[in-house]
Amino acid sequence: MTPPILRHLSDLRAKHATWIRAGESVAVVPTMGALHAGHLSLVEAACADCDRVIVTIFVNPRQFNNAADLASYPRTEHDDAKKLVGFGVDVIYVPDGGQIYPEGYATNISVTGLTDVLEGEFRFGHFDGVATVVAKLFLQTGAHRAYFGQKDFQQLMVVKRMARDLDIPIEVIGCPTVRETSGLAMSSRNLRLSAEGLERAAKLYPIMQQVAARLAGGESFAPLADEARIKLQAAGFNDIEYFDLRCEEHLQLLDRPTRPARLLVAAWMDGIRLIDNIAVDVLGN
Ligand code: PAF
Repeated sequence: MTPPILRHLSDLRAKHATWIRAGESVAVVPTMGALHAGHLSLVEAACADCDRVIVTIFVNPRQFNNAADLASYPRTEHDDAKKLVGFGVDVIYVPDGGQIYPEGYATNISVTGLTDVLEGEFRFGHFDGVATVVAKLFLQTGAHRAYFGQKDFQQLMVVKRMARDLDIPIEVIGCPTVRETSGLAMSSRNLRLSAEGLERAAKLYPIMQQVAARLAGGESFAPLADEARIKLQAAGFNDIEYFDLRCEEHLQLLDRPTRPARLLVAAWMDGIRLIDNIAVDVLGN
C-alpha cells in the first residue's frame, strides 16, 4: 500500500497532534518529487531515526529562476508514491499551492552571506525561494528532524543557518551523496543525458577525487584547479561555472584545506547543468 497522501495543512496538523500526544518523534524529508535513490536514502535514514516520517512533495515555484525550467520540472506523484512503499513512511504531504503561498502571501526569507556565492551567484533568488519554502515546511510539519542530501551542500548549509537563526526547533541532518556505480552523483537531471553524455559526465567525480587527494598531500589549489578545468573541458564539460575549494561553515574560498573544506563544482554537459561536491581532508589531521 502506498502511504496516504495529505494535501491540506489542517489534515497534517491533526495527524501530527496524535503523534505528539503519543510522545512520538517526527521526521520530514522535503522533496520536489521525481524521487530517485538519493531521496530514498534520506527516507531510509529518517525512518531509521524517527517514529513518524513525513515526505513532502512540492515543486516550489519561488526557487526557479526560469519559467521554462519550472514548467518542464517532472511531476511524477503517482510513481513517487509507489517508490515510497515499504520504507515506513507515514504520510506524503503534497500541499496544493494555496497551503504554502495563500492569496496575499508576502513573506520572504533571505539568508545573507552564504547565498552570495556558488549557486547564489548563478541562480539569482534561488536560495530565498528555498529558505522560504523550507521554513514553511518545517513549521507546517512540526518535525523534530529534517533530512537533506549533501549533494546540494550549499542548500544544506543555508537551511541549517535559517533554522538556527529563526529558532525553529528542528535538527537538520545532512546525508551522504548517493552515486551511480560510475561515480556520477544521482540527480533527476541525469535522466536528460544520453548514455554517452552520462559516460562523459562520470569523469567529473574521479577528477574531483584526484584534486582532493593532491590537496591532502599539501599542494595548493590554484594550479590544481587549472589542471582540472582542462580535464573537464576535454571530457566535454563546455561551461564550468565554478570549481572552488571552500570552507564548509562559511563557504569562503581557500587555497589549502586548513579547516573542514569542500571541493564544489557546477558545470554544463550537453546543455544540462550538473553540480557535485566532495569533502577534502583537513591538512595536518
Ligand atoms: O532539494 C530540493 O529538492 C528542494 O530545494 C527542497 C529542499 C525540497 C525545497 O524545495
